[in-house]
Amino acid sequence: MNCNMVLMLQLIFTLFTLSSSTASSEVFKSVGDSVQLHTQDPLLNFTTFDWIFNGTKNVLRYYDLGDIRRFNPSPSYKHRMDFNEETYSLTLKNLQKTDSGLYEARASGFKNKVVAVYNLSVLDPVEAPVLIYQLNKETCNITVSCRTHHLSVNSSCDEETCEERKVSSLGLVSLSLFVSSSSILCNHSNPVSWKRDVLEMKKLKLDCPNEGVY
Ligand SMILES: *[C@@H]1O[C@H](CO)[C@@H](O)[C@H](O)[C@H]1NC(C)=O
Repeated sequence: MNCNMVLMLQLIFTLFTLSSSTASSEVFKSVGDSVQLHTQDPLLNFTTFDWIFNGTKNVLRYYDLGDIRRFNPSPSYKHRMDFNEETYSLTLKNLQKTDSGLYEARASGFKNKVVAVYNLSVLDPVEAPVLIYQLNKETCNITVSCRTHHLSVNSSCDEETCEERKVSSLGLVSLSLFVSSSSILCNHSNPVSWKRDVLEMKKLKLDCPNEGVY
């Protein structure tokens, strides 16, 4: 690599760090929810202000030419958004999974600046998990399993407790099995919701013919 190339790479790196100085925030919402996206304070003087989806798609453009202020929502958003002309924050309503992606606010005038970056994930609430058990009548060993469409965990239990188990997918959805005050709980969760199924330890013990012989 020659010297010019190194300088060039340094320049690119510097420009990149300058332009990405607005940290992006992760936001999780359920389908049907609303989200409010705010901008950094204080905002520099601008003539146009845009909220942009996934780098290219305009959600709205707002002009501030001193005397003339105009607000142009894009047709595909105008029935389900609010724009606050004082704070420049954007509210999107009735979110769908296709709204997941990157939202940026750009203020342009004498200087251009990215004043907000959000990474929005719109998720369905999780389905209820199903907890079932199998009893080995000879040994009284109990195997408990908890399932959803995509994940499952198995655990072995004795008359007192079960081994704790947890699996997750993409670090977002998780299924965990644990015992709390004599109940076996299975918790299915994602960042916007959780549902559980419960089995009483008592019930398992009753089904064991050797109960009382321990
Ligand atoms: C299930 O998991 C979620 C997310 O980790 C947590 O907020 C919730 O309290 C848990 N519920 C139970 C019953 O443990």
